[in-house]
Amino acid sequence: MIKRKILIAGNWKMNKGAGESLEFLESLIRGIESEKELREAIPDRILTAIFPQAVNLYPMKQLMKEESFVSLGIQNIHWEISGPLTGENSIPGSMESGAEFALVGHSERRHIFMETDEEIARKFGSCLKHGLKPVLCVGETVSERSRGETEAVISRQVLTVLSNPLQTGNIDELFVAYEPVWAIGTGDNATAADAMKCCGLIREIIGSLAGSVSAERVIVLYGGSVKSSNAGSYLEQDGIDGLLVGGASLDPGEFINILLVALSKLPGRCQDQ
Ligand code: PGA
Repeated sequence: MIKRKILIAGNWKMNKGAGESLEFLESLIRGIESEKELREAIPDRILTAIFPQAVNLYPMKQLMKEESFVSLGIQNIHWEISGPLTGENSIPGSMESGAEFALVGHSERRHIFMETDEEIARKFGSCLKHGLKPVLCVGETVSERSRGETEAVISRQVLTVLSNPLQTGNIDELFVAYEPVWAIGTGDNATAADAMKCCGLIREIIGSLAGSVSAERVIVLYGGSVKSSNAGSYLEQDGIDGLLVGGASLDPGEFINILLVALSKLPGRCQDQ
């Protein structure tokens, strides 16, 4: 069995200015340092990533210096590397400012900014090409769910983005988040069983594209109204390797509680290969 890490990621969306972001980071680092077992589990068994507003990446990175407890990610990038694209974030610029990860295809980008699967595929491919780790987000809307289209939507979203890179490239680390749109920011989180089913489907599709070893390696997250009180129900499912947390990640104490839940679930997870 392959030992997959747990990834606990906080998507701050358009929240927190520089001052608040730095205060959060200081308390997060202090909180991790004060929990010996958590400190020892990060980053070998538990990865932590924060996705702040792009403008706050650089000051956060500066505060961390060589600190390896917390990774940073950018919420959106353009597939072009530079050029006349006012308001967009470039991949090299984000990396220089400290981003290691990028969210690609988040439901707010799909549904508010009308990003298509094809654009998301270009963003994903460009991240891979230039060394930023993309976290692909997929998930069905409430009407797609009520029409019984959940599996078809997830399959389409995963296949459009991953077919090409998985068939042509050698991807070491792959991250996909299942985030049902109806669960995001609503308090109406998916049941652990439903989340497990959809995360399993994602792994199955990856297996069909790239073989069982890649399927075993992919880190599949659940996201949608996660908080410390429901985090454990997901992390104890076989095949759910982490959480993408929005609202609850804005509070450092709550975020540390979610990390502690992840720590408590480590013993039940797959052991060494
Ligand atoms: P939520 O957001 O935890 O506030 O539901 C999750 C997300 O948008 O990634």
